[in-house]
Amino acid sequence: MSASAPGRVNLIGEHTDYNGGPVLPVALERRTAITAALADNWSFASSLEETVTGVEIEAPLRRDWTDYLVGVVRELRALGAAPPGASVAVATTLPVGAGLSSSAALTVASAKALSLLAGRRLDLAQLVEVAFRAEYHQVGVRCGRMDQTIAAHGARGTALLFETATGGMHRVPFPGRLWVVETGISHRLTGGELNERRRECEEALAYCREWRPGLSHLAQLSPGDLPEVERRLPPPLAARARHVITETARTRAAAGALADGNLQLLGALLVEGHESLRLDYRSTVPEADHIVGTAVQRGAYGARLTGAGWGGAVVVLPPQQQEARIMAEIGQDFEQAFGRPPQMWSTRAAGGVRREGLSRQPV
Ligand code: GLA
Repeated sequence: MSASAPGRVNLIGEHTDYNGGPVLPVALERRTAITAALADNWSFASSLEETVTGVEIEAPLRRDWTDYLVGVVRELRALGAAPPGASVAVATTLPVGAGLSSSAALTVASAKALSLLAGRRLDLAQLVEVAFRAEYHQVGVRCGRMDQTIAAHGARGTALLFETATGGMHRVPFPGRLWVVETGISHRLTGGELNERRRECEEALAYCREWRPGLSHLAQLSPGDLPEVERRLPPPLAARARHVITETARTRAAAGALADGNLQLLGALLVEGHESLRLDYRSTVPEADHIVGTAVQRGAYGARLTGAGWGGAVVVLPPQQQEARIMAEIGQDFEQAFGRPPQMWSTRAAGGVRREGLSRQPV
């Protein structure tokens, strides 16, 4: 049984998904594929990592790439949707640790392949939940639901405006191409920065509740509340909250700009979002700041560090007629500054999880 799921670029709406705000991701053409066959016990092979055999699903996690798969199997078991054992093989065209959600591609694709192998057909919402719980509750990354949601619900030629507080989803046409420039700084989220930011946001919310009892998410506050937030919260927490509040407004504005085909405005919002990450959320790295700066100088509509941050990749939106020149110049500027050329590639908005195989059947 085979299935695949895409990585993602988040156009905008960073660190809003665990604060009740909106996100605007796009599914990539680059994907992770899983093939699984029934077996007496569990073994995991990957094109990138060492094969691991005889894995005990209920034993303590190994603290390596297999944890995501073990997490998925545990969550499928809880639904009665796991096979008794399987040989699982993973192949991917996604860079790992580049902030492009290779982990959600892995968990969503494996949730699909393994549940089908067990004779169960889970719907997209169930696949998202299994994948989310595997990462959050099993592996222990305090992520939101953006990555799993786009890996499951992505659709060709569209970005997905996902309102995380309500679960509302709205597809926005994204007919063009976007570019990804990898910083080459790899970040493993289990390293803790994301978890720390999440704690800070919870603390900020607790402060805000003293004056707004009943507030359920930071993203419910509006830019008009900022003076009060800044007066009441200690400076680092005020800055984190300011990012979430302004990013929420920017994300909805960006979805509107994209729907109107106003790429100039969309690009300007992306750059503002990057600045907010740099100054208020403090999740950028100098390589990303450099790429965004040169992208704007060279004539891109906009650019922004995408994904959790502390490394990863920058999304760049260049005008179509000038993309070859602009991207070449961004590459040259980067090489001059950091002594190595960056990995750069383009993609269109692609589809979400799907069953694969010679006898591909409707799912
Ligand atoms: C990671 C998490 C997502 C989201 C982003 C930041 O990718 O997995 O849920 O929080 O960081 O926007």
